[in-house]
Amino acid sequence: MKILAIESSCDETSCAVVEDGRTCFSNIVSSQIDIHTRFGGVVPEVASRNHITAISNVVALALSEAKCELKDIDAIAVTYGAGLVGSLLVGVSYAKGLAYATQKLLIAVNHIYGHIAGNYLTFKNLQPPFICLLVSGGHTAIIKVTDYNHHEIIGNTLDDAVGECYDKVARVLGLGYPGGPKVDKCALNGKDNIVFAKPNDTLGYNFSFSGKKTAVINYIHKLEQRGEKIPVDDICASFQRWVVDELVEKTVKAAKDFKINKIVLAGGVSANKRLRAELSERAAQNGIECFVPDMAYCTDNAAMIGSAAYYQYLAGIGLADLTLAPNPSLSL
Ligand code: KG4
Ligand code: ZN
Repeated sequence: MKILAIESSCDETSCAVVEDGRTCFSNIVSSQIDIHTRFGGVVPEVASRNHITAISNVVALALSEAKCELKDIDAIAVTYGAGLVGSLLVGVSYAKGLAYATQKLLIAVNHIYGHIAGNYLTFKNLQPPFICLLVSGGHTAIIKVTDYNHHEIIGNTLDDAVGECYDKVARVLGLGYPGGPKVDKCALNGKDNIVFAKPNDTLGYNFSFSGKKTAVINYIHKLEQRGEKIPVDDICASFQRWVVDELVEKTVKAAKDFKINKIVLAGGVSANKRLRAELSERAAQNGIECFVPDMAYCTDNAAMIGSAAYYQYLAGIGLADLTLAPNPSLSL
C-alpha cells in the first residue's frame, strides 16, 4: 500500500511516499529555519504563510522523486495535531482537497505517533512491544508501546518539554534558533563539571525541565552580574549531561521495571549526540536492545506520518472525511 503523507505541524513543510509503513520512496522536507532564525523562534503566522507557498511544490517533488503519479497512490495521510493551528490547517486542507479530488482514503495522524513510527522506517524488523523515550519541542515522555496503535504513558513532563528547555538555554547563551543542535555542538568542546542545582528528584518516571532551565539561566545571570566570562561550551556540556543522564536513567529503569528489553528513541531531540550515545551504551550494559532513528526521521518529516498511517489503516483507526479539522492540542 502506497501512502502519500503530508506534515506541516510547525515550520517544516514535508511530503513523503511510503510503502507498507516500512519503505520510504521519497521524503521531501522544506525547512523554514532560515526565515524564523531572525525572529529567534517560530512565528506562527509567518509559518502558515510559508507552508501555503511551499506545499504544492513539495508534494509534486515527493511524487516525482518516488517515481509515482497520483494514480499510484492508495491513500493520503496528514498530521492533524498537535502543532500550530495555522500550520496544521494548511496541511489538513491540502490533504482533504487532494483526497476529495482523487477520491482516495484520508488518514488523520497524531504527530507524536508519527515520531515513534520513524523507527519503523529505520529498523525494518522492529515491532512492539517496546519502551519509547519521546523527546521533542513539545513533548517529553516515557511511553510503553504495547502494539502499533496502543500507547501507555508511563512518565511525562510536568512542565516544559526538553526541546523547549534546550531552545531557551540556547537563547540566553545567544546561540540562536533552533537551540538544540547548537547546544549539542558547543557541548562537544566543553567540560561537563558545572553543577547548577542540588539533585532532588522525587518525580518517579516524570520529568520537570522548567526548574533546570531556571537554574541554568540564574547561573548565567550571576556570572554576567559579576562581569565574568560566560563559559558557553562548559555550560552547554554540563546542562546536557544533567538532562541526558535523567532521560537515560529513567528510560532504562522503565524497561527493567516493565521487563521489556527494547528501548526506542523518538522525536526531534533524538538527534542529540550525547543522548543517542548514552542511551545506546546504558541499554547495552543492561542487556537491552536500543533503537535510535536515522537522522532523517528524527526532526519533523512526512515519512514518519506515512508509516504511522499504514498501521492505523490496518487497524481502521483515524480514517477521516472532509470534516477533519486540525487539533493543535491533540494529546497522546
Ligand atoms: O520533533 P521536533 O522536530 O518538533 C516537535 O515536534 O516539537 O523537535 C524540535 C526540537 C527543538 O526544540 C530542537 O531544538 C530540538 O528538537 N533538537 C535538538 C537537537 N536537534 C533538534 N535538541 C538537542 N540536540 C539536538 N541535536
Ligand atoms: Zn515533531
